[in-house]
This record gives sequence, structure tokens and C-alpha cells, in this order.
Amino acid sequence: METITVKIRQDAESFTPREEEALQQAGRVIQNGGLAAFPTETVYGLGGDALDRESSRKIYAAKGRPQDNPLIVHICRFEDLEKIVSRVPEEAVKIAEAFWPGPLTMILEKSQRVPPETTGGLETVAVRFPSHKAAQKIIQYAGGFVAAPSANASGKPSPTLAKYVAEDLEGRIDMIVDGGQVGIGLESTIIDLTVHPPQILRPGYITKEMLDQVLGHVDMDVGILGAHGGQAPRAPGMKYRHYAPLGELVIVEGEPELAADYINRQTAADRIKGEKTGVIGTREFLDRYHADVVKCVGSREDEAGIARCLYRILREFDEENVTKIYSESFVCSGFGQAIMNRLLKAAGHRVVRLPGP
Ligand code: TXA
Ligand code: MG
Repeated sequence: METITVKIRQDAESFTPREEEALQQAGRVIQNGGLAAFPTETVYGLGGDALDRESSRKIYAAKGRPQDNPLIVHICRFEDLEKIVSRVPEEAVKIAEAFWPGPLTMILEKSQRVPPETTGGLETVAVRFPSHKAAQKIIQYAGGFVAAPSANASGKPSPTLAKYVAEDLEGRIDMIVDGGQVGIGLESTIIDLTVHPPQILRPGYITKEMLDQVLGHVDMDVGILGAHGGQAPRAPGMKYRHYAPLGELVIVEGEPELAADYINRQTAADRIKGEKTGVIGTREFLDRYHADVVKCVGSREDEAGIARCLYRILREFDEENVTKIYSESFVCSGFGQAIMNRLLKAAGHRVVRLPGP
């Protein structure tokens, strides 16, 4: 299959006739049962018609994704929510008012219109109304209901640039809309509204504190930070070893100065064993490291910047055949919780905790 790629301007709020034509074309591809990848404010998504079982099957096949891992249905109007869920609870209205369109996915009881292929056989459905203007247009042109997992091959970090979509899916999908670098860089927050209190199944840019403010109190799925004796996370997709670089990644927790010393001792020893070594470091400590490949993930002061860089950096270590990678650790609250959640998964939960000073 030939994959057509069309460029649009990054984060455009309105579109030139040529761009509008490209968005229409992507919508048509999806409506006709094909697959088109497009940017959202979080990561690139791989879109197919959410109400068509054959399209959902194609998505799983293109990504090499396990069939029990349900897809998120993307909408472009709040009113469309009631067509795909059996009931819109009051909590859904409240958080939609606060955070939609935006990087938040709600789990609700599904309606008959959503085929089991889209929800991995579950009776619930994940729904998101993205804020990205091009994504909204594509969803509209596609008929209003677009199933879109992250547009990576299963097991790879989610794509934050169109070139990574092409690397993983070229020849396997009909179209890629290249809208440059995405804004947030980590996938949406997922909140399950079918349980009481509502539960966060995947941390993201919309934090627990923000959801607590609107809903009174929400829980955090204890499986997601891996702190609870290996209890499995509840979102089916969170149990897979996602976001993983090919090299072995270890997170080093402790005072940054001590962590840098530890990492330097380790990389020196690894190098003697023939490993190609890498470090994920922050700007503040970057010049301390002596590894073969040292990547700057941004400033410790700027969580949004770290989130935006993380997946690109993980992919770059693969491109450079780095076999042993060490990362600094980050504060595990607010948006930092999402960063640490993805980093821990990429590391397969390998963490070294250094003793305090
Ligand atoms: O930011 C995002 O959410 C991106 C962009 C493209 O919108 N999409 C995305 O989709 O991250 P995906 O398929 O890579 O991740 C969806 C996650 C998986 O962990 C899946 O198991 C979970 O959502 N999920 C989907 N439906 C669910 C359901 N009914 N119950 C529990 N978890 C569900
Ligand atoms: Mg994904």
C-alpha cells in the first residue's frame, strides 16, 4: 500500500484551501474504511472509523496491537457523546465543561452503536474530544467518530513527529497528515467514570489535582505507578511494556549530584563490557555526564518541556544503537506523575534508589 503524506502548518488555527483539502481527504479516507494518521495536541493518532468493526480490525493489524487493548473514540462536538454512550453522567458534563476540548479521555458505558472490536470486547468505551484544530476537522469530515490509538507500532513510544509515524507505519496505512511537532508530547489523561469515586487509569497533562477540584475527589489506579507489588493496571493498554527503547533503561533516583556520580561510574563500567552508553539528563546537570550519548530532556524547572522531548529522545537512543541508558528521576506529582509513569514503563520499572546525603 502506498502511504500519502500531506503537510499542514504546525498548530494552525485556521486553514488555507490546500490544507482544508488535505483534512477533507484524510476524513474521506477514514469514512471509506481506510486509515489516516494525524496530529492531536497530545501525540499523533492513527484514525479509523470507530463505528465500523472492519476499520478497528485494520487499526490493530497496522499497529501489531493486541486485540484486547481497546481504542479511544475521538469526537468533535460534545453533543455527539450521547450517541456512543448509554448514559451521560453528571460527572462527565462537569469535566467536559472544564477540560474539553482537550487532553482528557473519559471511560463510560458504551451504547449499541460502538462495535465490540473498537472497545476490545468491553462494555465500556473511551471517549476524547481533542482541542487540536486539524484533528477536529478530520473527525468532522470522517463522520464524527474516529477511533485513534497513538500512531506508533505497538511497543514503540507514541509519535510526537510525523516522521516517527512514517518510520513505524509507512506502507501499512493510507495517509499521514504531517502537522509538525505536537504540543504536549504524552498521551491524554484517562479517567474512568463507571466507578465511584472516578478513577484515573492513565496520568497526563490534566492532573489529579485538577480533576479533584472539579469532581471533589478522584482515585488513582494503584497499578499505574508500579509501587504496589506488581498489581496490574486497569486500562488494558497500561499493562503492556510500552514506550520501550531497545536499549536497557535504568532510572536513578536520588540527589542529582550523587545520581550523576553514580551514572558516570556505571557508564564507565558498562563501556568496558562493550556497551554503548546513554544518559537522559536535565540541562542543569548535563555537563557532568561522560556517557557516549548524552541527551538533554530540558530543564528541571520546565515539566512541559520534558514531556514534549521524552518520546523523541527514547527513539533517538534506538537510532544511535545505544544499549545501556540511564535517566535522572523527576518529581512524581502534578504533570510530573505522567512523566514518571511513562519513564517507569520505558524502563520496565528498573529503578536504582541511591541513599540520601
Ligand atoms: O492522547 C491520546 O489519548 C492519544 C491520542 C491519539 O488521542 N491516543 C492514545 O490511544 O493514547 P492509545 O490507544 O494509544 O491508548 C488508549 C489507552 C490504552 O491504554 C487502552 O487500554 C485504554 O486507553 N482504554 C481504551 N478504552 C478503554 C476502556 N474502555 N477501559 C479502560 N481502558 C481503556
Ligand atoms: Mg498508545
